[in-house]
This record gives sequence, C-alpha cells and structure tokens, in this order.
Amino acid sequence: MSAAEFDYEFILEDEFDAISLGKKRSDDEILSGKYPAKNHARKVAHELGVDKGIVYLVGEPERLFPDSDQGPKFRQQRYFYYLSGVDYAGCTVTYDIAHDNLVLWIPYTEPKKSHWFGSTPSTAQAARLYDADQVHYASDLAGYITSLPAAATVYALHPDQRPPQLVQHQSFRSRSSDGPKIDTTALKPAMNRAREVKDSYEIALIRRANDISSAAHRRVAQALLRMTNESQLQAVFEAVCTSRDAHSQAYPVIAGAGPNGATLHYGANNAPLKGSANIVLDAGCEYRCYASDVTRTLPISGSFSPRAAAISDIVTRMQNECIALMRPGKFFYEIHQHAGHVAVDGLLKLGILRGTREELIAAGTVSAFFTHGLGHHVGLEVHDVVGDAPLLMSAASETVGGVLRRGKRTMMTPKKLLAMNRISQATAAEKQRTVLRAGMILTIEPGLYFNREYLEGFFREDPVHSKLIEWDVVERYYPVGGSRTEDCILVTESGHENLTTAPKEQELLDVINGRHGSKPRK
Ligand code: GLY
Ligand code: MN
Ligand code: MN
Repeated sequence: MSAAEFDYEFILEDEFDAISLGKKRSDDEILSGKYPAKNHARKVAHELGVDKGIVYLVGEPERLFPDSDQGPKFRQQRYFYYLSGVDYAGCTVTYDIAHDNLVLWIPYTEPKKSHWFGSTPSTAQAARLYDADQVHYASDLAGYITSLPAAATVYALHPDQRPPQLVQHQSFRSRSSDGPKIDTTALKPAMNRAREVKDSYEIALIRRANDISSAAHRRVAQALLRMTNESQLQAVFEAVCTSRDAHSQAYPVIAGAGPNGATLHYGANNAPLKGSANIVLDAGCEYRCYASDVTRTLPISGSFSPRAAAISDIVTRMQNECIALMRPGKFFYEIHQHAGHVAVDGLLKLGILRGTREELIAAGTVSAFFTHGLGHHVGLEVHDVVGDAPLLMSAASETVGGVLRRGKRTMMTPKKLLAMNRISQATAAEKQRTVLRAGMILTIEPGLYFNREYLEGFFREDPVHSKLIEWDVVERYYPVGGSRTEDCILVTESGHENLTTAPKEQELLDVINGRHGSKPRK
C-alpha cells in the first residue's frame, strides 16, 4: 500500500483510555477552575526574596512573516503565561509585590477586526476568566508605568523586555537613578525556581497532555501493521491529538525507522518502513501550554528481531529501575549513572562491550551507546526550566548559545560521564540544589543507539574506548538503529507516579498485534 492509499480512519471513542476515572474526575474538577496565576505570582515574589517591586512580563505580540500578511502559529511566552494563564496575543501582566496586586493588561479588539479574526475578551470577561486582581486595557499601561514612584524597582526578564516608557524616560534624563530602577537579572532565576516544582493545577494539565499523547501512541500501535511509511505514524499521532483538543505538539514528532532511530532529533519522517526492524516514535502534544513527552519503540513487523528484542530488554530494565528510584531526596545524576550501569551489564552480556564492568565504568565507554541525559523537567516547555543547578550537575552540562542544555539535551560523552562520576563532597551545596522534590515532573528516557557515524568517527579511533567495544558484534546491531522508551514521572511525597499511560512492553506488542484482553496500564 502506498502512503497515499493509507486508511486514516481512526477510533475516536475513549474505549482504551487508561486513565482511572477517579483521577480524571479530580483533574476535571481542578481544571474547571482558573489557572492559578495569583499563586504563581506570590511564589515568584517569594523566590525573588523581596517585599516590594513590580514584576513586569510581556506576552507574545501578534507577528507576521516579513513581507507577508500571514504569520507563525501563535505560541504564548511561557514566563508570561505562568503569571497570567492567558493564551492570546498582545497582553502584559504586572504584579505589585507590596500590594499583592496582579494586573492584566489586555488589547481592545475593534468590532471590524473581530469580524475577521474573532473577538478577544473584554475587561469584564477577562476578569471572570483569569485569576487577576484587576484587568485593564493595554492602552492604560503606559500611564501606570510612568506613574510608578521613582524609588520603585521593576523586575523584567531581559533587557529587551524593559517597559519602553521607562527606557525612554531614563535615556532622556540620561541618569537611571532618576526613575524607577529596572532589574533584568533577578526575575528569570526566581521564576525558574518557582516553575521547577509544579502545583496541582499544573500536574493536572501535564497529566491531561500525557493522556492525550498516550491515546495517540495507542492508536498508532493499533494501526502500525497497516502502515508503510514514517509519515503515517506522524499523521495518525497528530490527528488523534488534534481531535482531542490538543492542537499543538510540544516538539516536532520524531518517527525514525531503522537507522533513522539512531538520530536523536530526526525529523524528516518520510522514509518507507520496509526494510527496517524498529521505529522510534517520540511524540507528545501540549495541552493548554503544558507539555508531554513520550517515546515508544515499535517493532514494524509486530515482533522484535532477536537483536532488537535484546536491546529493547536492556532499555526496559534501565527505565524500570530508574523509575523505581524516583523519590524526594534523590539526585537525578545518580539515577542517570544507575541507568548507565544497567546498560554496561546488558551490553557486556551481549558481547557489544568487552573488558570488566569496573574498567568500563571507569572509562565511561557506555556513552557510546547511551548518548544523552536520562531525562529533563517537563512543564510549560518540553525541556522545562531548571532552578539553580542543572539536573546532571554542572560538570556534565553545557551551554549552547548562552542557553543551558537541559537534561537529555546534554550530549553524554565519556568525559562528561566521568566528570559526573567524580562529583565529590566539595560540591555538596551544589548537589543539594539539584535534589528531587515532590511536585517535580521529569522524563525517564533511557535509550541505546547504534549510530555508525558517531561510533566510528568518535570511538573507533580512540585508544581507550576502541579496545572496550567489540566492533564485529556492533556491526550486527547497526540495523537495530535506536531504542528508547520515555515516560513523564511525577515525584510525589511517597515516591513517584507515572503520568504516561501509553502501552509499553508486552502490552504494546499485544496492541500492535490486535490481541485483545490486554489490560491498559494504570
Ligand atoms: N522529545 C524530545 C526529548 O525527548 O527530549
Ligand atoms: Mn524527553
Ligand atoms: Mn521525547
């Protein structure tokens, strides 16, 4: 069957939704209330550690492509959303810390514009919809800003998000001390600390995003044996999400068959499935700006080849053992190390690695195959913000273009893995800042990859690692491509809860092969 002939019929009813009804009801109840913007504002003020000042956050404006009357799909600024819950263009929010006063500044939509694009709420409607103390039209914002007392401090995210009225005012007087002071350094770290631990509303949103993604993964698995091209997995996944009111993906769908599964952020999604054993499907929608992030590796024929099954078993063990370690007080980098040790044991048994366990751990060679961080926070961003210190410790992290790579995005080279192994008592204070706390949501996404270019270009010539890899055996595993499993895990007071209910392990095989009676995961 060609891609064009593929039957896109899909089941819309909830018959396979694995979420327990009790949870769904309590989430429905939470989500029927307002997004808790005011509590978030107080949390941010607490993290700022000040008792006065004005937090000033700008939302995403309406944008057009250059020389076009079309624009990109709207995506709200996440820091703004955190303090407002508002998901349309042209708004600003201010929070007066001393007076505990959260004010939303919204655009006025002229009737002739609303005929074309629909209306936006009036101030009265917005006051009913959002958790703000006051709502005003944005045209009044300049007056508010210019009337702030000279002794005030305005907290903005970046220099380019300073209130323009104050910037003009200050450059006119050319002495910044004459007007309110603008602080552009403290707000972002304070908001990152606040965002790192999720409240019950955010947890309900992320659970809902995971439910929708899980239903879509299930539907793809049901249709897999009729599919012929990577593009069909993407199409069905996105269709199910959209039909369940999740209109955006948290990141571009990755549907990589065979060797394409060994490219971490593969995105072409247009190769035929024929000739490949596995397909890695990494896909997660967002729901009301909150992300999910889910990966399953599916056998294209309905059953794994012996080599693919062996790799999948190791990944399963890595994931299950790491999820079991998730609880308050644990350090994420130690859980990453544990995943690496499970991989060393498994790859030694298959003859892919050689030498002793100790030798391999001391050299960090496993990062030839387990090439990325174990996971990352999930929230308003799929790779959500970290508080004071990176999850995998600074020694193992990197910044790219001034932005700290978060968790999985860290390329895990042997050097970084060893730096993680050497973390000592001297870094105890820093370690403490990375400790897991109840309310955090992180992915656990171990993977093993056979990427020929990376293995042969980087490890084969290396005098230490080359000796610890059995290259003839590796050759036989290249067709496996990659294997990754990824769930979103909530850290709870007593341990953890897996928010992802997409079928995996035996249940996944049963769903692909249409074997009924397979119990959905709870
Ligand atoms: N989907 C991107 C990631 O797993 O981090
Ligand atoms: Mn992820
Ligand atoms: Mn992912």
